[in-house]
Amino acid sequence: MHIDPLEKKWAQIVLAICAFFIVIIMMEALFHGVNAPSNVETIDSAKLHLSKEFAEDNLGVQVDENGEIIIRMVAGRYSFFPKKITVPAETKLTFRWVSMDVLHGVHIPMTNMSTMIVPGFVAEIETSFPKPGDYPVLCNEYCGLGHDHMWSKIDVVEKGQWQAPQVITKGGDKK
Ligand code: CUA
Repeated sequence: MHIDPLEKKWAQIVLAICAFFIVIIMMEALFHGVNAPSNVETIDSAKLHLSKEFAEDNLGVQVDENGEIIIRMVAGRYSFFPKKITVPAETKLTFRWVSMDVLHGVHIPMTNMSTMIVPGFVAEIETSFPKPGDYPVLCNEYCGLGHDHMWSKIDVVEKGQWQAPQVITKGGDKK
């Protein structure tokens, strides 16, 4: 089979570009904690208020029995609930997101937080905030007419100034 030298050259360039992108994806996954949400944990989006974990009283910041900080958030047209939470900077945080209605996304600039929130599934992401300040929480999946206005805020304070809420178990049962 004859391959024209020019065609061969361009094929090599295309392969090189593909390899370059694969390297970038690998670097982000390995060194920046950016990866596809792989957990396929399901939840009934229509009954969040009745669920043990995502009932209204359990939303927001909690510390579990192992000292892990877990933040449970609900996305719904058109905001993230609770509207405002306070977390410490430079600390590992586990966010658990669910949708109460349609497909939403969540993006927090300056962090690795960018995921879809698919109705029926829990999106769990580990992140940390590099420094104190107000971080916007933005929806990055088109979810309806109010999509542009779907955002809330996270208040990040110095590690030493943060006060942990009462310790509760992972299932959401208050001790
Ligand atoms: Cu929610 Cu766009």
